[in-house]
Amino acid sequence: MRLKDKVAIITGSGSGIGRATALRFASEGAHVIVNDINQEHGEETVQLIKENGGSASFILADVTNPQDVQALTDNVIGEFKKIDILFNNAGISNVGRLDEVEPDVWDKVMSVNVKGVYLLSKYIVKHMMEQKNGCIINMSSCAAEMGLAQRALYSATKGAVLSLTKAMQVDYAPYNIRVNALLPGTIYTPFVENYLKTSYSDPEVAIEGIKKRQLSGDLGLPEDVANAALFLASDEAKFMMGSPLYIDGGVVFGKNA
Ligand SMILES: NC(=O)c1ccc[n+]([C@@H]2O[C@H](COP(=O)([O-])OP(=O)(O)OC[C@H]3O[C@@H](n4cnc5c(N)ncnc54)[C@H](O)[C@@H]3O)[C@@H](O)[C@H]2O)c1
Repeated sequence: MRLKDKVAIITGSGSGIGRATALRFASEGAHVIVNDINQEHGEETVQLIKENGGSASFILADVTNPQDVQALTDNVIGEFKKIDILFNNAGISNVGRLDEVEPDVWDKVMSVNVKGVYLLSKYIVKHMMEQKNGCIINMSSCAAEMGLAQRALYSATKGAVLSLTKAMQVDYAPYNIRVNALLPGTIYTPFVENYLKTSYSDPEVAIEGIKKRQLSGDLGLPEDVANAALFLASDEAKFMMGSPLYIDGGVVFGKNA
């Protein structure tokens, strides 16, 4: 029970890594606030947690909408009087070279992936500062560290999240708040499955290509990232501050080609 009685908010936890982390946190004793813009998927996550004997509730909110985020924060503080953990996980992908990205798409992806992290953190950190305690985990990506083909916009958003994490950590360290970032490689979630189906005639060939980029012969799974998020959220990570944590099967530091 590494998160016993902790209150944890996980954005975008109706699917993929967010859902796996919600299940993991709940299995370690946290009450999980499942957030998503997809109500059906969010409620499914809550149902799965309850079936496993855990505690969770769903709050519908768009992470890019300040009113939604303020209401989510007020709702959680009203009920639980504290927020221990914020996992800024919600994100969307984008594939293409910079010259292929339309301005409205640029704004949309920046908005979900970067403004979303800003908004949730802005409203929730005030309570963590009053509590003099808190843990924020921001979802970056290996794309922040390496030049991946066809990922200009996506990489820019994840680089911004990594820089934001370091700056936030300096400002909030005096309040006993830790801020760290997760940098996954390719993790097999609906996000990636969808991209493979729409971008390749044979997704199996694409999967082999992904494995070739790694040192590991396995595909990354949502649970691999959930375990890393659990570590950062737990007291075991009390000396981790402003750090990028790689969960990538050796993509960033292990190039063997
Ligand atoms: N899957 C990977 O290979 C991979 C690698 C590195 C980083 N990431 C990052 O991990 C995070 C989760 O990715 P995933 O693969 O689990 O994706 P996913 O698509 O399976 O899940 C993302 C969830 O976020 C929700 N969401 C989207 N926009 C939202 C908004 N405005 N407000 C609230 N919720 C919103 C979606 O409805 C969805 O349920 C993303 O930030 C992604 O960039 C993923």
